[in-house]
Amino acid sequence: MAIQPRDNFSGKFGVIAAAAGSAVGLGNIWRFPYITGENGGGAFLLIYVFFVIAIGVPVMMSEFVIGRRSGSNALGSFRKLAPGTPWWLIGLMGIVAAFVILSFYSTVSGWTLEYIFQAINGGFAGKSMEQLNSDFGSFTSGSFRPVLWQIIFMIMTTVIVIGGIQKGIEKATRIMMPVLLILIIAVCVRSVTLPGATEGLRFLFEPHFEKLTFKAVLMALGQAAFSLSIGMGALITYGSYIRKDTPLLATSLQVAGADTLLAILSGVMIFPALSALGMGNTGGPGLVFVTLPAIFQSMPGGYIFAIVFFILISVAALTSTISVLEVVVAYMKEEFNISRFKASLIGAVSITALGVVCTLSFGLLKDFTIFGMTVFDLMNYLSANVFLTFGALFIVIFTGWKLGKLNFIDELNQGGKISPLLARIIIFIIKYVAPLAIGSIAIGAFFIDGLT
Ligand code: PHE
Repeated sequence: MAIQPRDNFSGKFGVIAAAAGSAVGLGNIWRFPYITGENGGGAFLLIYVFFVIAIGVPVMMSEFVIGRRSGSNALGSFRKLAPGTPWWLIGLMGIVAAFVILSFYSTVSGWTLEYIFQAINGGFAGKSMEQLNSDFGSFTSGSFRPVLWQIIFMIMTTVIVIGGIQKGIEKATRIMMPVLLILIIAVCVRSVTLPGATEGLRFLFEPHFEKLTFKAVLMALGQAAFSLSIGMGALITYGSYIRKDTPLLATSLQVAGADTLLAILSGVMIFPALSALGMGNTGGPGLVFVTLPAIFQSMPGGYIFAIVFFILISVAALTSTISVLEVVVAYMKEEFNISRFKASLIGAVSITALGVVCTLSFGLLKDFTIFGMTVFDLMNYLSANVFLTFGALFIVIFTGWKLGKLNFIDELNQGGKISPLLARIIIFIIKYVAPLAIGSIAIGAFFIDGLT
């Protein structure tokens, strides 16, 4: 075991900012709108919110508890809390998930950098949705530029992770998050006041349950896990840096609340504009990259807005990518006793190698498919719907059935006592409701609807 001193978050606000920084990212702004679009809108949103409350928050609390109780990384924590058992395999799955997620996430993060660049050059001016769509297509199907931006983004991530917890991660998040929220609200106001916006709002908020399939339910669960950063140990790792006087229930509720608010606002930003600007088939990963520039054009000061907005999306992505890389780095640093610097470099370089394949799968490698999906699509699909979903399942099973009620409640009570009744309810969800729900959704989706 490593005997290096451990870094800590400075206090309550620091933790919330860092955890919310991990949660709020491309998952909210980029992934949520197009996944919601593809899965029918209102009904999807309703189930999504239900999963955040009923499953997301309990899993998040479990991760914080596991991390803080063990004071260890995503894999080491299971070894410490359940020595001599195979539970550490959950941690191993989390490390693999970090590779899978960061590989395609860094592709999209790179795109946000290109869009800052285009915004500065006035590249959206006077363009129709069709033109913006075809611009997006020709940029992403190239090789040199998207790969370059991806590498630059990975370098930024690595530099912050090398900087360590308080100096790097915390500082970056606590300033940018509030600013992002304000700008998103401003864009929402523009979007809903466009003529023809109501149809989009209706799509987002009117539930049509007849459109719902098992697969859509799994996608909602996967999206909730992805957006909350649960199921792979990112929050176990951050949990290990949380001080004992921080209340874990309140922190989980605040983080999940902020994350869900941001996701819904992103929907309010995109769908009304989509119906107003009359663009039917801008679905998929290009959705926000086409819709947002179109909205900016109809805003006063849109030029500046576009620049600041894409900068903030990149920052939101950055505060998420550092939490993913941190999972790998904390693991390597503690289990192999190497320096933070070395661990960061090894992690980042190997992830980037896989990441480049994801980026090229929009162009050069677009015909290279596995199960009918490009490498990007496969990583994207696997991360949320397989790794994080099963990760969340095993984590609640671990907390409910192995860590045990007494340990769990004891840890939860440090930094803020919860009532015995509430404790009983939480335990009941973690032990029975969450595992059964996740398990049956996964089985239903894979065996009834088929894998893809
Ligand atoms: N939650 C992040 C987002 O929504 C992505 C993420 C997933 C980060 C898993 C860490 C772990 O963008």
